[in-house]
Amino acid sequence: MSTLELSGVEKSFGAVQVLNGVDLSVSGGEVVGLVGDNGAGKSTLMKAITGVYSTDKGRITFDGIDITNLDPGKRREMGIEMIYQDLALAPQQDVANNIFLGREPTKRLLGLIPCFVDKSRIDVEAQEMIDRLGVQIPSIHIPVGMLSGGQQQTIAIARALTFKPKLVIMDEPTAALAVREVESVLNLIEQMRSEGIATILISHRLNDVFAACGRIVVLRRGNVIADLKRDETDMSEVVSYIVGAHG
Ligand SMILES: Nc1ncnc2c1ncn2[C@@H]1O[C@H](COP(=O)(O)OP(=O)(O)OP(=O)(O)O)[C@@H](O)[C@H]1O
Ligand SMILES: [Mg+2]
Repeated sequence: MSTLELSGVEKSFGAVQVLNGVDLSVSGGEVVGLVGDNGAGKSTLMKAITGVYSTDKGRITFDGIDITNLDPGKRREMGIEMIYQDLALAPQQDVANNIFLGREPTKRLLGLIPCFVDKSRIDVEAQEMIDRLGVQIPSIHIPVGMLSGGQQQTIAIARALTFKPKLVIMDEPTAALAVREVESVLNLIEQMRSEGIATILISHRLNDVFAACGRIVVLRRGNVIADLKRDETDMSEVVSYIVGAHG
C-alpha cells in the first residue's frame, strides 16, 4: 500500500481549472520528483495534499485513511509536512527556536498548567536533530537570518523532520543554492529516503531531480502526463513531456 494516494483530484479557481483529475501515489522510502512548466499546477497540487486548498473532486488517502476533507492541522498530525519555497523561517530567532517554531514544547507550572515555553528542551532536541542530520552550522544559538541559503534550507528540513513525518513535500529546495549546498540538501533527502520517509520533490532543476528521485512525475496543465522510473528515462524525454512534445 502506498503512503499517499490521489485519485481523480480536481481543483479550480473560479473558472480556471488548475487540476484536472490527478492520480498519484507515493510510498515510504521513495523520492518522487514532480516537474512541469510554470503554472502546470505543482504547488496547487501540493497544497491540495497538505489541505491548504480544498479540492472539488477526487479522493486523497494517507496510510489508507481518507483525508480528503481533513484540515491542514489534522493532516500534519498524521505526518504530512511541507517545506515551502520561502521556508517560512523567522530570521531574527535562533536555529533552535526555528526548528520548533509554532510547535514549542511547554513546561507545566507546578506540573499542572502548561505555560512556559521549555527553552532548554528546545535547545537539547534541536541540537540532537542538527547532529543526527550532520547539518553544518556554527551554533544553534545564532539567528537563522545570518546563515547561508543552503544552511537555512537544511534548518527548514530539520524542522520538518523533528515531528517525525511520513511524507515530506519540498517546493524548490535547491533553486537558490550554491553547488556545495545543493549537495548537502540532496544528501539529506537521501537520508530521509533511507529512513523510510516518502518525499515529493518539486524542482525545475532536472539535474537535482535525476540525482535524488527514483521516479519522476510530469504535470502539464493540471494532468499527470508521465510517471517515469528514473532508470528507464533520461533528461531529454522528461523535457519533451514538460514542453508538451508528446501532445
Ligand atoms: N489562489 C489562486 N487563485 C487563482 N489562481 C491560482 C491560485 N493559485 C494558483 N493559481 C493558478 O493556477 C495555475 C497553477 O499554478 P501553480 O502555482 O500550481 O503552478 P506551478 O506548477 O507551481 O508553477 P511554478 O513552477 O511557476 O511554481 C496558474 O495558472 C495560477 O495562476
Ligand atoms: Mg509552484
